[in-house]
Amino acid sequence: QHMEVYNDLSALGSELNKWVGIRKIIVVKGDADDSQETLSHLGIEASRYLQSLLRAEATVTVTGGSSTASIAEHLAELPFHVTFTPARGGLGEDMIHQANFIVAKMAEYTGGHYETLYVPDQVSEQTYLSLIEEPSIRSVLHQIKSADIVVHGIGNAIKMATRRKTELAVRELLREKEAVGEAFGYYYDKKGNIVYKVRTIGLQREDIGSKKHIIAVAGGSSKVEAIAAYLKIAPPQTTLITDEKVAKQLLKAY
Ligand code: BG6
Repeated sequence: QHMEVYNDLSALGSELNKWVGIRKIIVVKGDADDSQETLSHLGIEASRYLQSLLRAEATVTVTGGSSTASIAEHLAELPFHVTFTPARGGLGEDMIHQANFIVAKMAEYTGGHYETLYVPDQVSEQTYLSLIEEPSIRSVLHQIKSADIVVHGIGNAIKMATRRKTELAVRELLREKEAVGEAFGYYYDKKGNIVYKVRTIGLQREDIGSKKHIIAVAGGSSKVEAIAAYLKIAPPQTTLITDEKVAKQLLKAY
C-alpha cells in the first residue's frame, strides 16, 4: 500500500517536472496547510535528499521558516563535519522560525558546525554599511556566499509580510504590486518579477545561480501561487520538495 502511494507521488513529481524543468520534484502526500504530518513528511524527504548530497567539509546555507525547521528535526548524526550558516540576517521572525536557530539545530543533530548572523532589520544605511565591515560578520558572509548547497523555504507573500510584522506602507506596496510569493527576503509577483526586497545582509539572488545544489521546500494550498511563480525563476539546479495538493494544482495549470 505504502509503495503504491509512493510510486504515484513520484510519478506525479516527474510528470510535473517535465513542464517545470528543474533538477527534481519530490512530492509527499497531503496538504501541509491541513496537516502537521505533511509538514513532517516534507522535512523527512528534504532531509533525506540533503543528506544524500552531503560530503565532508560541505557547507550549507539555510533560510528560516517552519519548513526548513522540519528538515532540521529529521537530520541524523553524520560521520563527518558539515558547516551550516543562516542564509540571511534577521528577517523579523519569531525565534523558532529564524535561520540562526535552525542552523544550530542542524549542526546539533548532524554533529557538525554552525555560524550565526545577527543583523537587526531596521538599521540605518550607515550602521548597515559599518556592520558588514565587521570582521566576524565578513567571515560568515564569505561562508554564505561560498556555500555549495542552499536550503530555503518559499512563502505566501501576504502571510510572510504579516508574520514579519512588516510596516503598513510596505504591505500596501506588496498588495499594489500583486506580490504572491516570497523567498530569501525577495517578494515577487505571479510572473516571478521581484517587486520588493527586504534589506538585510547575506545571500542575494545573484549568488544562488552559481550554487551546486538548491533545495526548495514548501507545501500547502496557501502557497500554490507562490510556488508556481517561484518556479518561473528557479535556477535549473533546484530540487523542489512539495506536497500532493500543490503538485496537483500546479500540474493542472500547465
Ligand atoms: C522565512 C524565510 O523564515 O520562512 C522566507 O525568511 C520563507 O524566505 C519562509 O519564505 C517560509 O516559511 P514557512 O514557515 O512557510 O516554511
